Amino acid sequence: MYDFPSYSILAALLAVIVLTYLRILRGISYTGGVPRVGPDGVLGYFLTALHYTFDAETIILKGRADFGNKPFVIPTLSGPVFLLGPEYLGVVRSSSDDVFNEPVAVSEDLQLPFTMDVHQMENPYQASVLRTDVNRAIPAFIPEILEESTLAMNETLCSSSGDNSVTLPVFDTMTHLIARISNRVIFGIELCRNPHFLHAIVRFAETITLIAPFIRWSPRIIQSPVYITLSSLLGGKKEPLSFIVPYLKKLKKELKSKAQDEPLIAEFLVRAAPPDESIGGIAMRLMNINFGSIHTSSIFITQALFELAQLPQQEIDDIREEVKAALESEGGWTKTALLKFKKIDSALREVGRVYGLMHFALPRVSMRGHDLPDGKRIPPGHRVAIDMKAVHFNPEIYIDPNRCDLFRFSKLRELEGNDSKYGFATVDSHYLPFGAGRHACAGRFFAAMELKIMLAHILLKYDLSFPPGISHRPANMQFNGAIIPDTKAQMVFTVRV
Ligand code: HEM
Repeated sequence: MYDFPSYSILAALLAVIVLTYLRILRGISYTGGVPRVGPDGVLGYFLTALHYTFDAETIILKGRADFGNKPFVIPTLSGPVFLLGPEYLGVVRSSSDDVFNEPVAVSEDLQLPFTMDVHQMENPYQASVLRTDVNRAIPAFIPEILEESTLAMNETLCSSSGDNSVTLPVFDTMTHLIARISNRVIFGIELCRNPHFLHAIVRFAETITLIAPFIRWSPRIIQSPVYITLSSLLGGKKEPLSFIVPYLKKLKKELKSKAQDEPLIAEFLVRAAPPDESIGGIAMRLMNINFGSIHTSSIFITQALFELAQLPQQEIDDIREEVKAALESEGGWTKTALLKFKKIDSALREVGRVYGLMHFALPRVSMRGHDLPDGKRIPPGHRVAIDMKAVHFNPEIYIDPNRCDLFRFSKLRELEGNDSKYGFATVDSHYLPFGAGRHACAGRFFAAMELKIMLAHILLKYDLSFPPGISHRPANMQFNGAIIPDTKAQMVFTVRV
């Protein structure tokens, strides 16, 4: 007699191993000639892929050391990735989705069929709305973002016990602030100040990048249970949807009679929706916008604060003076005043250059296959990406590239003819944190506006430092190619008198 439950668990485990093996076999059996990082064979692939999952930087540096600037294959648990050097940027950037496809890559990376829905990538009008209505509304958003930043920071960064200092975990604090402040103009005052909604939307946005890889690594037949289990533990779409769907039903009714007094991103999306779009479909696009905003901006502001806390006092005072002068000359917080915050803008751009979100840029799926100049071939259906560090740390472009110099770009902008170059949201061939080409980040001008207001407000109102005994910025963490600031690290915010 055998013990039935343990026998079936064993059988299930065996099936998972066989199916996973079959899935990565495609990567192992590739014979197109592009060399692979790490030892040969199945075990070599698997061990390198595991190493990549927790330390992508070392694997990419090894590939570059072994193969120079030539394309090479990185084994990952989701399949092989063809990492291309800067000279391939032009071809990937300018290719249509028929050649190098972005929506398919996003859908795979975020596992959209499970974590959100799949049909939003068939007609991604949320990106067009961001590029048109939302960008045009930025000047109108500024007073609201400022008001929400001031209120939220007064509540969060000021001690309730009367002390003038608080010590807080930076990443978590900034994530909640970004969620509240962004949602002031996505859904309006009521939802953005609802702590239950904020909790649900932060959990959703912050755990997608954790849940999605596990779904992707799982054999197809168990992907659904993997999503259900992980989302019930970590937070999925169900809870935020329970706030957004009723909100949208009400908004739709109200919009029939009149426009909102304040512009809202939710309103733009409702108006842009095709007639057959369901409320659930619009809600999911707004969740995608929330993900795009919360996940990325919280990382950028945390990295910026870690770097700012290390600056000499004089340099912090110089930033404050520049902000004050801009506000004075423009009569307050306007779009033109924000353009004059060049030191803060430069700090954000430098954080993007040195850290960014990922070790690579422009992840795409090769649809037709691609012949490389040396006769080697990337087969159809395989993943390509641009080696972002090779671009951002190129000593011919960036002097002393390994140094994080927050004023690198503001100094460059002082040179004649450079004033309109090197803005935080300006994408060019040497700067890829927002991607490039037709799919370059649709929310980057919104992100720049929000981050500049938040950082300027923090610097004017608070002194920043690390807790006693800590003099250096905390080291980053890595997961599956992503660069994540230490999520436990704390900083001291002291109200300036
Ligand atoms: C510092 C903040 C941000 C960073 C670093 C960032 C980065 C990126 C990157 C790397 C891409 C992919 C581009 C490509 O593959 O070529 C992207 C796309 C996108 N981002 Fe952002 N993002 C940020 C903020 C935002 C915000 C605030 C929103 C929404 C309000 C947003 C919405 C989007 C959308 C909708 C796309 C897809 C564009 C398309 O496929 O056409 N992002 N972003």
